[in-house]
Amino acid sequence: MTMTPTENCSRRSALRSETAKQHADLETVVGALGSRASYVRYLRGMHAFRAPYESALSSLDWPALFGDWRPTLIAQSLHDDLGDVGAAPLEAVRPIGGMDRSGAFGVLYVLEGSSLGARLLYRDAQKLGLTATFGARHLAQQAAGFETWRGFQALLETAEGLELRAAVSAANAVFEAAKLSFLKADDDEA
Ligand code: HEM
Repeated sequence: MTMTPTENCSRRSALRSETAKQHADLETVVGALGSRASYVRYLRGMHAFRAPYESALSSLDWPALFGDWRPTLIAQSLHDDLGDVGAAPLEAVRPIGGMDRSGAFGVLYVLEGSSLGARLLYRDAQKLGLTATFGARHLAQQAAGFETWRGFQALLETAEGLELRAAVSAANAVFEAAKLSFLKADDDEA
């Protein structure tokens, strides 16, 4: 596989194909959000993996790395959603270490890209009676974040000297952390 972006093989498509298996596995682990119980499990798993990543992002030099662009941060909304449905967050998982620029692109690809799937999940949540102001705040925020995703894609394709392999490996580490958090939610329930 060529890891060099060309007109037909963007960095985004390389990241997508190199993480496709992890995304499919994660979708299986998350499963359908057809009940309040499955939705609460989803909230706990999401919060447990996002909160440490979002807090690690806070140490990046944003203006130097990303100019005016800023990511959609949803850990606080996830925390509030948990409060709405009367569920406790999972115990904090290990903090994420520092990330270099290529790693940050990989991490942000997963955190921002997940807003694409969030549109579907928001519909599922609404069927369970959850809204932008109760229980599904983070999904409403993500579903509204399309411009942020577009802005990220532009930065991803134009960033100079990006190490695509490092970005892919950071992206897959995020998917792995997400999977472990959902499994942890199951253990905590047991
Ligand atoms: C059951 C749960 C999930 C479902 C059903 C789902 C579904 C989807 C769908 C349908 C897309 C493509 C949307 C489009 O092209 O318009 C997508 C994209 C994506 N999702 Fe998920 N997703 C789920 C969970 C997650 C989670 C938890 C993460 C992050 C940890 C995630 C990360 C991503 C990423 C990075 C993309 C962008 C892929 C690309 O480059 O096109 N997804 N998801």
